[in-house]
Amino acid sequence: MKFIWFLSLLLLATVQEPPPPPNPPPAAATEEPLQGPLLAEPLRSLALSLRRAAAPPVDRTNRYADHPAAVQLGALLFSDRGLSGDGKSSCATCHRPDQQLVDGKTHPRGFNQIPRDTPTLHDVAGHRWWGWDGRWDSLWMQALSPIEEVDEMAGDRLLVLRHLAATPPLLQRYQQLFGSLPDLSALPEKAIKGGEPTAEWLALSQTRRRELNRAFTHIGKAIAAYERTLRGPSTPFDHYLEAVAKEDAVAAAEYPISARRGLQIFLGKAQCIRCHSGSMLSDGEFHDTGILTSGRTARDAGRYGGIQELRIHPFRSGGEYSDDSQGARAGRTERLQRDVAQWGAFRTPSLRYLVGTAPYFHDGGMADLRSVVRFYTWRQGARPTGAGHSHQGETMLTRISLTRQEEDDLIHFLESLSARESSPTPDD
Ligand code: HEC
Ligand code: HEC
Repeated sequence: MKFIWFLSLLLLATVQEPPPPPNPPPAAATEEPLQGPLLAEPLRSLALSLRRAAAPPVDRTNRYADHPAAVQLGALLFSDRGLSGDGKSSCATCHRPDQQLVDGKTHPRGFNQIPRDTPTLHDVAGHRWWGWDGRWDSLWMQALSPIEEVDEMAGDRLLVLRHLAATPPLLQRYQQLFGSLPDLSALPEKAIKGGEPTAEWLALSQTRRRELNRAFTHIGKAIAAYERTLRGPSTPFDHYLEAVAKEDAVAAAEYPISARRGLQIFLGKAQCIRCHSGSMLSDGEFHDTGILTSGRTARDAGRYGGIQELRIHPFRSGGEYSDDSQGARAGRTERLQRDVAQWGAFRTPSLRYLVGTAPYFHDGGMADLRSVVRFYTWRQGARPTGAGHSHQGETMLTRISLTRQEEDDLIHFLESLSARESSPTPDD
């Protein structure tokens, strides 16, 4: 039955999402042995294209994105359990500040278990879409979702506003930024129940619902302002690129030779940079890498489902609560088209801070970096070509034979994308 449905989607889909930016040209000279710590062209330019951005991109959909008072309020809200349904969890429960902003669990524990791995929030403002399936097009829109998600904090927008009204340090900061809260009398207990709007909420006038929604979106905008300050610490690779840029051979020589060889494989032979490109080591796009989904449930629809949710969501960048509803970001969302090729495609994740953020991949299905590398090189744990939906998978992912030494080098390179102080992976 499911298969028939899938086939009909295949027939219906005709319009494509605009193609991702062109991939960097393959480096011709990458198989040459490395001469010294400063790289020769074309490796040098390719490597330097991975330098960290000085600041996250401007977010015009959030007028308060860089407002210091919003950052302060957001920091308080991020770890405030009062935003959850039973007062027991906050954003920091799953994005733990002492654990690289992840929970380290395969499936995070909210009210129920959720089948997606918790991503780190280091540098999170640098993405173009948020969530493994990109169902959020701004950080503030994202922040509102876990609060009301049954599987995460199981809270409610009305509960959040009441909590704010009853907590003077939050209320003062809120009023200073956004003006007074709407009148909270004569309201139902909840706006959302089991993921659906309650009848009592829908019975309120549209004006009333709008003013309450607006206050709720202010909460998201304050949390997002705080999240923009979550910049990960500099990594050995970042130091190395600085040295390469300045042509400082002494500083560059501090970067281990094995990691340098791994970088060469990443840019050349293994072509990881085709997708893990730019300052985030992510092209910001969605690909089906052919991973087998763990667990019992049907395969995750990935980007296909993400687009469906985003296009109709009232809190999207093009919606009435956005501060730039006609802007470039909104336009990008409005132009999205669903296509079966996006079925099972997930956003290319950043590769910084992998050490200490295991497990990997959207379903947390890979326990360590060696498994990830074997997945790419030997296609270990991948769906066989031609099986299931993989006819839509990435054609560019084919077996790459790496020697044990090359595999180790690639892993050393991936580890050098984490800060030194991070805790080692279990099999180190
Ligand atoms: C129960 C655990 C849990 C809680 C609580 C939680 N998160 Fe998450 N968070 C996740 C998981 C799992 C994902 C991945 C979801 C997906 O992609 O479908 C995620 C994704 C995100 C992302 C997207 C990251 C990216 O790289 O795209 C952001 C931002 C985020 N969370 C912020 C927050 C904020 C802010 C809060 C509090 C309002 C919060 N989270 C509460 C588990 C949690
Ligand atoms: C076709 C695009 C593409 C190529 C080429 C590619 N990746 Fe990925 N990578 C992805 C996507 C998409 C994901 C997320 C897949 C998922 O979770 O289902 C991912 C996930 C990962 C992860 C897990 C990160 C995390 O936080 O969970 C690592 C590590 C990784 N890739 C490393 C590499 C390496 C090393 C190479 C080269 C051997 C490579 N990738 C080549 C697209 C690509």
